[in-house]
Amino acid sequence: MTDTWTRETVRNIPLYYNPKVKAVRMDTSTNVLGPNPVLRDVLRECADMDLNQYPAPYSDGLREALAETYGISADNFVVGNGSDEVLDIIFKTYMNPGETVISPYPSYSLHSFFVKINAGRFDTVDLKPGFQLDADALLKREGKVILLCTPNNPTANTFDRRAVEQVIKEHDGPVVVDEAYGEFADDSFISRVNDFENLIVTRTFSKAYGMAGLRVGYMASNPKMANQMQRVKIPYSLNRISERAAMAALQNREYIDATIELVRREREKLSRGLNALGLKPFPSQSNFVLFKCPVPSSELVAKLADRGVLIRDFGKLRLLEDCARTTVGTEELNAMLLSRLEEVLETW
Ligand SMILES: Cc1ncc(COP(=O)(O)O)c(C=O)c1O
Repeated sequence: MTDTWTRETVRNIPLYYNPKVKAVRMDTSTNVLGPNPVLRDVLRECADMDLNQYPAPYSDGLREALAETYGISADNFVVGNGSDEVLDIIFKTYMNPGETVISPYPSYSLHSFFVKINAGRFDTVDLKPGFQLDADALLKREGKVILLCTPNNPTANTFDRRAVEQVIKEHDGPVVVDEAYGEFADDSFISRVNDFENLIVTRTFSKAYGMAGLRVGYMASNPKMANQMQRVKIPYSLNRISERAAMAALQNREYIDATIELVRREREKLSRGLNALGLKPFPSQSNFVLFKCPVPSSELVAKLADRGVLIRDFGKLRLLEDCARTTVGTEELNAMLLSRLEEVLETW
């Protein structure tokens, strides 16, 4: 076996983040209230399902349920195995090999992964101070697809609405708005998908809906684009159990509302607590907070992991020097995080 067998465009792709430490996970921005409570009943019912049969190839039941939730049509939606699959479908549909996707930097690391595995080029434009979108600079670059994440991971802020709208209106090609954390923000573009011929909004059941382990994501766009992408999706990619669970989760507003309320309340308190420790949090519209450390962030994250709490270090990245990101926990989790951070900082 030789490396030349591997397609050139995928030769240098590293394995994804896969920490082996045993610790409380505050590194993946999942739901801290635990699994969505609907899952117990759904999984029990699924034991009697005729799972010898395939799922519906395009998950029609879930697309209908999403249509009802958002007041648009099932034809506006494509669902997949996590919003990660949905991002992959977008590039498979719209990006020819060698074409460029333009994205702000810093943002979600897997965005460039999906572009590269589809033999595209990934070009970035730095965010402006305050981690805001530089719409003019993005629009000046040559590229087929523009990909934005708002609220942005890992910076946690939303981009100015007018700047996003400018990009959608002025770019001659698909514009993807990744709203994986959209439920936690004051602003969203999902209700606008019929207003534009080039807007795709991606969302997930992994965060606010507390179902990361079941892998369900979706995108909304005008029906014409949705149909183009539907034809590219691998049929059956979403299994029947996950589809059923997502449909049930959409009905359980109580858990979602409690999650959103908790995050909005606790992220402010957590930010104040981080600040009091001399760590500098950036404003958050997400269920995580990015903060700058007065000490090397990689060491701080490692020492915290030794004390049983895992957060994510971004300190080696340009523009994020000595920054780390933590999920916003419950009141108790945040108190534990802050007290362990305090212990770690005391020994410096
Ligand atoms: C910005 C962003 N987009 C997409 C995803 C992928 O989500 P999913 O679990 O739906 O694949 C994540 C996961 O962390 C994310 O942070």
